[in-house]
Amino acid sequence: MNHFLDITDLEPAELLHLLKRAEVFRKKRKSEELYNPILQGKNMAMFFEKPSLRTKVSFECAVNMLGGNAIFIDGREVSGTRETLSDITHNLERFCDGIFARVFLHSDLEKMKSISRVPIINALSDSAHPMQALADLQTMYWHFGEDFRSQKVAFIGDGCNVSTSLAEGCALLGMHFTIATPPGYEIPQKQWHTIVEIAEKNGGSVSKTSIPQEAIAEANVVVTDTWVSMGLEAERTQRLLDFSGFTVTKELFSQAHTNAIFLHCLPAYREIEVSSDVIDSTASKVFEEAECRMYTATAVLEYFFNNKN
Ligand code: CP
Ligand code: NVA
Repeated sequence: MNHFLDITDLEPAELLHLLKRAEVFRKKRKSEELYNPILQGKNMAMFFEKPSLRTKVSFECAVNMLGGNAIFIDGREVSGTRETLSDITHNLERFCDGIFARVFLHSDLEKMKSISRVPIINALSDSAHPMQALADLQTMYWHFGEDFRSQKVAFIGDGCNVSTSLAEGCALLGMHFTIATPPGYEIPQKQWHTIVEIAEKNGGSVSKTSIPQEAIAEANVVVTDTWVSMGLEAERTQRLLDFSGFTVTKELFSQAHTNAIFLHCLPAYREIEVSSDVIDSTASKVFEEAECRMYTATAVLEYFFNNKN
């Protein structure tokens, strides 16, 4: 059985395979070819403790396109004092062939993985968002073509789940990734150490700085995310102060390569982490990026459920 909690659960060749398949799904959709109904007769649980638009809809579309049935469970209604995570997992595995879970603690996913009889797929945790990283990488593939791995990626903002998974994905593909965060908001040391190791092994490079201008210089892909991830709302006031100077403004973005594109996993907060004249410009590919969530979700489902589970 295969679980998918982190993008580092994949070998570089597997990651590349998923991206190539996602590109096939994107092109197939246009030509209206049919998908292989490999999920026919299968039920997929979607257990979400946090809100979602893209992850929820794209996954449900992907399950439907592969002939399966997706069932949404609002974690805020059933977990906590009502029922333990362990009991929830043991119930869902009786009905469903896989559990797509969005949780607060990554350790909860590890717990589910250790007891579940069906695959657990991470729909976002406090420390990782692998499904997003796949879509980010596919957007680069879509935009830059076969040469996408030689593009320089700069993340400006928080060392959060989204930047961590993206850094891991870039490292696996031997890409060049730089992150600028305010001091104290870096990608956690343990994960950073792994990212450096993976990058070295695969011929890529990763670096970090606290100066946005340094990270963005000559970048082909500029990425940011909210400064206040779900669950951190109490830190909002302090974070807005600490991230001052990290807004991706037109002026900052102009220091990237002239061919640079802008990515954001969304939801975005205009005039906070990014200015409107960047996210709403032609360089912005945020809706292509959102669209890619559906193709990468389809690729993941095909890979993990095709004759395997
Ligand atoms: N990017 C992303 O995961 O969006 P949602 O939180 O809306 O699913
Ligand atoms: N870092 C953000 C991503 C939202 C899709 C969060 O965790 O809230």
